Amino acid sequence: MEAPRNIINITDLSTEEIDELIGVAQDIMANPADYQDICHGKQLATLFFEPSTRTRLSFESAMLSLGGATLGFSEAQSSSASKGESVSDTIRVVGNYVDIIAMRHPKEGAPIAAAMKTVVPIINAGDGGHFHPTQTLTDLLTIKRQKGTLEGLTIGLCGDLKFGRTVHSLVAAMLRYKGVKFVLISPDELKMPDYVKEEMDEAGAPWKEVAHMEDVMPELDILYMTRIQKERFFNEEDYLRLKGTFILNRAKLKTAKEDMIILHPLPRVDEISVDVDDDPRAMYFTQALCGKYIRMALILKLLGIRKEA
Ligand code: CP
Repeated sequence: MEAPRNIINITDLSTEEIDELIGVAQDIMANPADYQDICHGKQLATLFFEPSTRTRLSFESAMLSLGGATLGFSEAQSSSASKGESVSDTIRVVGNYVDIIAMRHPKEGAPIAAAMKTVVPIINAGDGGHFHPTQTLTDLLTIKRQKGTLEGLTIGLCGDLKFGRTVHSLVAAMLRYKGVKFVLISPDELKMPDYVKEEMDEAGAPWKEVAHMEDVMPELDILYMTRIQKERFFNEEDYLRLKGTFILNRAKLKTAKEDMIILHPLPRVDEISVDVDDDPRAMYFTQALCGKYIRMALILKLLGIRKEA
């Protein structure tokens, strides 16, 4: 039997495949009826050992909208992991029940270990501070729809750039497109890891670090806000000190471009004030909707299913 295709990191997809997924997602958005029964008889398991709203529910909504079925669990406590079962054993068992698995786990590397134990495709729905490839695909689809291109953009990444897995993957993906510049906005303790800066250098992409979003607001085509990741801190004191360092509000948007877009993978805590939600540049709820359509496209790709011509 052919080895399954797994998506552990965004680097598991070529640029051509990413562009193809974006194209299919846009076709699904335009012609949903063409896809409503396309996965009839197929089953997706969502195995979430860590909390989620968007990723789990958008995966489930995606499979249901393709005419398939879903099963799974939303926390380790409601699975036999709470009795000490290993991830490997869980995957080995669930792989017998379904055609494709989306899993989230707090431990970095857990999806790679899982992928060795089953012949069905594994999609990493987030592993610790490591990767979150379907969030990156979501971000790329949102940017493509709103800006019409993935090239020549200046992207401000703001907040927890140390632990924020979404920004690490987004940089890796955007480096494939011409003329992209990065502005890194974070407190000293939460700066972008060196390995990501090295990736930017190797790709020849210009980047700079700043301490205040106000200083760079007029330059940005995209402002990508992130939450300070409380669950990744070793002590509460550090979290409380850094929480609320960067809060985007309407006043700070005064110098921003008219067509800048504001993204956030969500959930937000207080890093974007609710008075920004009505600004036409606020795209984070649209972004969450895009997550469903790009996951539909990814499920189809991994199951080898295409819309009939
Ligand atoms: N963006 C994201 O991963 O959200 P959830 O944690 O709600 O899935």
